[in-house]
Amino acid sequence: MPDHSALHRPHTTMILAMSADGKIADVTRSPTRFSSKADRIHLEKQVALADGVLFGAGTLRAYGTTLGVSNPEWLQLRKQRGVPPQPVQIVCSRLAELDPQLRFFRQDVPRWLLTTETGAKRWQEQESAVVGAFERIIVANTSEQGFDWIDAFQKLTQLGLERLAVLGGGELVASLMAADLIDEFWLTVCPLIVGGIAAPTPVDGEGFSIPEFRHLELLNVQTIEQEVFLHYRMQHGS
Ligand SMILES: NC(=O)c1ccc[n+]([C@@H]2O[C@H](COP(=O)([O-])OP(=O)(O)OC[C@H]3O[C@@H](n4cnc5c(N)ncnc54)[C@H](OP(=O)(O)O)[C@@H]3O)[C@@H](O)[C@H]2O)c1
Repeated sequence: MPDHSALHRPHTTMILAMSADGKIADVTRSPTRFSSKADRIHLEKQVALADGVLFGAGTLRAYGTTLGVSNPEWLQLRKQRGVPPQPVQIVCSRLAELDPQLRFFRQDVPRWLLTTETGAKRWQEQESAVVGAFERIIVANTSEQGFDWIDAFQKLTQLGLERLAVLGGGELVASLMAADLIDEFWLTVCPLIVGGIAAPTPVDGEGFSIPEFRHLELLNVQTIEQEVFLHYRMQHGS
């Protein structure tokens, strides 16, 4: 596994809710949110602690929106920390084939696009239809494996992002996990069974073989009504 311990990059926390059988959505990838109000509050808190919120284009296509900070308590805390009211919302997409009519583009949040040269060109060609949709387009280096995440994360650091919240989905998380770029892992286990071999899970991608398994240190477990909130620290280089 790559050792990036010396790398200056954002501290990265992944936050996901899954069913008791380990699924983050159903086989049709419908946008159903199956977690409780307590989980939504937990998610908003994690968003409020971040400078940037990163998610895959699949997650954006599924929900059409993102989660900003609206709780006055979190807004006040951000003010005290001297940071903008809203963390920047960063969509990651190779091709940037995103529907400009999504409600996301009308939400009162700063938006960045993390993409390839092809994606940036494609998006800019339709810029007339979506002027100002993204404040910034970050072009990441790519290799045969996809994004060069070390390069992308260093660019995010140079742009002032010290804390990153990753909201999924499984493809993005798998890439970041493979590059050993996740530091903390919040998983909410919800009391339902979704099933389906093709239903997405917290970490999809190609998976890891035994010597490459990623290891976690359990930091905390909290139960709120029927849900279990698991907080892990990733063991880097393990
Ligand atoms: N329960 C939860 O907490 C939770 C949270 C989030 C999402 N979800 C669910 O998860 C599903 C979406 O997950 P998903 O795995 O399909 O989608 P995802 O990871 O959100 O998005 C996949 C897309 O994001 C871009 N992407 C992801 N990783 C990339 C990488 N390494 N390099 C370049 N681009 C990358 C690509 O976009 P392009 O195709 O545009 O190039 C890719 O097709 C939805 O059903 C959603 O409801 C559930």
